[in-house]
Amino acid sequence: MAKLNWGMVGGGEGSQIGPAHRLGAGLDGEFAFVAGALDHRPDQGRDYGQRLGLDADRAYGSWQDMLAGEKDRPDRVDLVTVATPNATHFEITRAFLENGFHVLCEKPMTMTVAEGEELVHLANHTGRICAVNYGYSGYSLVRHMRAMVARGDIGKVRVVVAEFAHGHHADATDADNPRVRWRYDPAQAGVSAQFADCGIHAMHMASFVTGQEVERLSADIVSGIPVRTLEDDAMVNFRMDGGAVGRLWTSSIAIGRQHGLAIQVFGETGGLRWSQEQPNQLYYMPLGQRLQVIERGEGNLSPEADRTSRVTVGHAEGMPLAFGNIYTDLAEAIRARKDGRTMDPAANLYPRAEDGLRSMAAVFAVAESGKADGAWVDARPPMFR
Ligand code: NAI
Repeated sequence: MAKLNWGMVGGGEGSQIGPAHRLGAGLDGEFAFVAGALDHRPDQGRDYGQRLGLDADRAYGSWQDMLAGEKDRPDRVDLVTVATPNATHFEITRAFLENGFHVLCEKPMTMTVAEGEELVHLANHTGRICAVNYGYSGYSLVRHMRAMVARGDIGKVRVVVAEFAHGHHADATDADNPRVRWRYDPAQAGVSAQFADCGIHAMHMASFVTGQEVERLSADIVSGIPVRTLEDDAMVNFRMDGGAVGRLWTSSIAIGRQHGLAIQVFGETGGLRWSQEQPNQLYYMPLGQRLQVIERGEGNLSPEADRTSRVTVGHAEGMPLAFGNIYTDLAEAIRARKDGRTMDPAANLYPRAEDGLRSMAAVFAVAESGKADGAWVDARPPMFR
């Protein structure tokens, strides 16, 4: 089976997320990395692309050149990953979708709810895939957690508790550093800082594992470092459409926390707990029994877990492999479209543009509620009300 062609915009040398995408896309031999506009500096982007093995004519200096160069090629890229800074996602994703490419966009997908709705409509209209990289949902034990909840192992979900709290912006003496400062400046970051950057991962995770969507929320937002306009800490209470109660804490001033994404789900007959920093263990507490530790790679878990696990039990699998599972989902979905097959959406769990849109609506709801002293507000995008 021929490999699919893959290209990336952003993710240049020294970027945080570029290497994880390259590792993930290359993991299962589904995608060949053939094109890129990797850097906002054209020469550096072209040079780095060629050092990574791209042909000179496909190591582009800008995403506009990449679009122009790729769109009429018979061997054009099948999938474009957009891994640039947030404010550029919408424009680049829209342009590639309009020209018939499938796109995997980094989070947050857009800067406004209206832009998010436009991308959802555009993906539906063009029949192209617009995925958004909630890459942590690719972890094997997260997939297993979702499967356990869906098959009723913990009964009806009562409460979901999600956290994404780190301490990397906790140093008040560093708050004026331009690399940190822009994140808390509304002119550059939009209406929210920490929730839009990290909180949306936790909220997506809450929806992903419970199979429920957030309907309304109440937020307490603060700038722990007072010179910041936007929040560096938020506590969000929410209610989901299947009746679950949600609690979410996100922070960038939690000194001592490194990554800090964790999810707990408590049902009528059991509880589950998983943390991104120990992704190979899932803690399961059946009502009235002892705590069980489920190891990634064990036999007899679920088809969802088996499909997304590669390395023998007892050996760590980490974040680029979780991204790899998103890419494998996308390869399957792209091949199905090429062959004219329809796929059961429940059998292919890559995060959709709809998820990116829901996050954007939640970002604006958190900002609105936070300003209104925690008033409960509708968290759904207008098109899903
Ligand atoms: P970064 O600042 O480390 O790297 C950004 C890269 O994009 C650089 O190589 C830069 O030269 C390039 N770039 C900027 N503008 C460009 C343009 N117009 N055309 C081509 N290249 C351009 O940023 P980082 O941390 O890698 O974040 C990128 C995106 O990934 C952000 O949207 C961020 O929210 C997201 N992200 C997602 C994560 C996840 O778990 N899904 C984790 C970390 C970041």
